[in-house]
Amino acid sequence: MRIAVLVSGAGTNLAAILASAGAGELGAEVAVVVSDRAGAGALDRAHTAGVPTEVVPWQPRQARDANTERLCAAAARHGAEALVLAGFMRILGPVAMQRFPQAILNVHPSLLPAFPGARAVEQALEGGVKVTGVTVHFVDEQVDHGPIVAQEAVPVLPGDDAATLHARIQAVEHRLYPEVIAAFAAGRLAVDGHHVTGFYPGRAGDAEER
Ligand code: GAR
Repeated sequence: MRIAVLVSGAGTNLAAILASAGAGELGAEVAVVVSDRAGAGALDRAHTAGVPTEVVPWQPRQARDANTERLCAAAARHGAEALVLAGFMRILGPVAMQRFPQAILNVHPSLLPAFPGARAVEQALEGGVKVTGVTVHFVDEQVDHGPIVAQEAVPVLPGDDAATLHARIQAVEHRLYPEVIAAFAAGRLAVDGHHVTGFYPGRAGDAEER
């Protein structure tokens, strides 16, 4: 399966995905990295790995669907069959779900539905929660919302600030997200309403039901 990875930032999740692909564990090829920001560090990582890139700036004066359509077209030009959002900080319009039905994944740094949006780590600290985590989910029309594939808890420790907590969360993201993408690319995930089956943590190569 050919996938497009959509990014806005540093691209540490992209690096983990590329490492998994390079090790032959992803079962998918990163056909293109699409960024809405020309300066995103993720683009440098793609260049280093020899993966094609597309920069598709988000135009604030254009409708969400028009921006989404340009992003989808960039992915489709490279033969992508699925979109993998990795630190992509825009909200895709419904046209994306129409073009890539049940084929858009996102990683988010909280245990959704807690703390959706761009300040998930800060809000976990402000809220005083003792446990936060990572969610990987299929994308629907709402922000950080859609059928949940996998979640893993991460403790909030005394003295944490946003940087230390985010680093602990990202260590989990970098392991969990490629495992979910591998299960998806292998055709093992089944979506029924809010419920996703077929992913068994730590058993990415194992299709056996438990
Ligand atoms: C990741 O922690 C990801 O979970 C988060 O942005 C970070 C991107 O890091 N995504 C969201 O907050 C989506 N709402 P990266 O660019 O180093 O992969």
